[in-house]
Amino acid sequence: MTARHKLIIAPSILAGDFGNFARDAKRAEEGGGDWLHCDVMDGHFVANITFGPDTVAAFRKATKLPLDVHLMIERPDVYAERFIDAGADHLIVHLEARHDVVRTLALIRRRKKRAGLAINPDTPAEKALSFLGQIDELLVMTVHPGFGGQAFLAEMLPKIRALRSAAKDLPIIVDGGINPETGRQCVEAGASVLVAGNSLFRHKTLDLGDAITELRKHATD
Ligand code: DX5
Ligand code: ZN
Repeated sequence: MTARHKLIIAPSILAGDFGNFARDAKRAEEGGGDWLHCDVMDGHFVANITFGPDTVAAFRKATKLPLDVHLMIERPDVYAERFIDAGADHLIVHLEARHDVVRTLALIRRRKKRAGLAINPDTPAEKALSFLGQIDELLVMTVHPGFGGQAFLAEMLPKIRALRSAAKDLPIIVDGGINPETGRQCVEAGASVLVAGNSLFRHKTLDLGDAITELRKHATD
């Protein structure tokens, strides 16, 4: 981790209480989170369904944190504008989804939002290289997308390293199975944003704020 990459912690609301989203979005902010990570799943691109633009609009009202909206949906091109209208600050689309990736990224930037690209564990780093000039953040999945609470895939560390050497200043986000130990490994490999759900919202002993502090400290020590 170099000084130019200030570590960003993005609590994932997927591990929050679905009956108390507004409260948990606020807790993420008060606990010292930098961004609120919002996982949108459509039951097609992944085998799970979470929430859509109306819920993102509710997050927008509940917190001032930047909303980092991760679209795990089959047609991000069709829905991107709806999420932007709902208040998304960053919109991350998957390379593997069914769309013209360049066009979708351009549409997001045209609306003055940060365009992010996500890659699944089975997608090699090289596939992302041609998009580096068109994105504001890159998300490396460190589990297979669809569910929170899965174990971190250590095989992703060389991929993070390769992408960091190709993109020195780009925010590199890791998502899935991140806790103080795996977070530290990712930061050493070049990640600059840690998304974490279960290890923050469902920590066995610490409250959310202390869990965020512990993650940040352990990853940067
Ligand atoms: C997984 C999602 C993640 C998820 C991570 O498909 O993209 O953002 O919330 O959850 P944890 O940190 O519990 O693995
Ligand atoms: Zn995510």
